[in-house]
Amino acid sequence: MLEARGLVKSYGKALALTGVSLEIAEGEILAITGPSGSGKSTLLHCLAGIIRPESGEVVLDGKRIDTLAEAELTRLRRENFGVVFQFGELVPELTAAENVALPMLFNRRDRQASMSVAADWLDRLGVSDCAGQRPGELSGGQLQRVAVARALATEPRVIFADEPTGALDTLGGEQVMSALLGAARASNTAVVLVTHDNRVAAYADREITLRDGAVLTGVTP
Ligand SMILES: Nc1ncnc2c1ncn2[C@@H]1O[C@H](COP(=O)(O)OP(=O)(O)OP(=O)(O)O)[C@@H](O)[C@H]1O
Ligand SMILES: [Mg+2]
Repeated sequence: MLEARGLVKSYGKALALTGVSLEIAEGEILAITGPSGSGKSTLLHCLAGIIRPESGEVVLDGKRIDTLAEAELTRLRRENFGVVFQFGELVPELTAAENVALPMLFNRRDRQASMSVAADWLDRLGVSDCAGQRPGELSGGQLQRVAVARALATEPRVIFADEPTGALDTLGGEQVMSALLGAARASNTAVVLVTHDNRVAAYADREITLRDGAVLTGVTP
């Protein structure tokens, strides 16, 4: 469904990706591991259409997306992709429920429907109690669950998660990870998961490892 073909990306002299190819199937959970600086975040950002590769292609459903005009790419991202970052990246002025509703509002759903879907997703992720609170009043684990609810609420085809449990303790991280992957599996959403943590990678269907901007191994458990 989503494919990278020969992605190359550098920052000045630093070569972050040296020609990475991979494919993600519908509903597949793919872990990307590798040491710090190996290019994991750069790869994730290229796949998610957040940055553009210098050469190579990103293909969704057989159609190149890395060459789309900015407005079209933004719309495609809103309709097909969800993202969860290491620190949640919620809007501090909005309540948890409003944060979850926001991407739906961008997709032109009406406010009442968006807030009702948001409440439903907060409930599924076990944080309905947090609906009216602002991010500053939430714990790290609660923040990440809200961020996961926000990413899933638009029913995306793919969720991109970059160290989504990196700021949490072991137990909190495992709870957020099982909430994320459980919800993704239930809705057949593919997940591209960047992680340092082997235990987290063990939840995935497949793992690829990057080293110096290239894919090291492809292991299918
Ligand atoms: N905005 C940037 N400007 C300059 N260099 C960058 C930038 N982003 C990444 N790099 C460089 O590109 C390489 C790959 O970085 P990337 O962030 O993709 O690695 P990573 O595997 O995600 O690392 P980490 O595990 O530490 O998050 C590194 O050498 C990094 O220093
Ligand atoms: Mg990174």
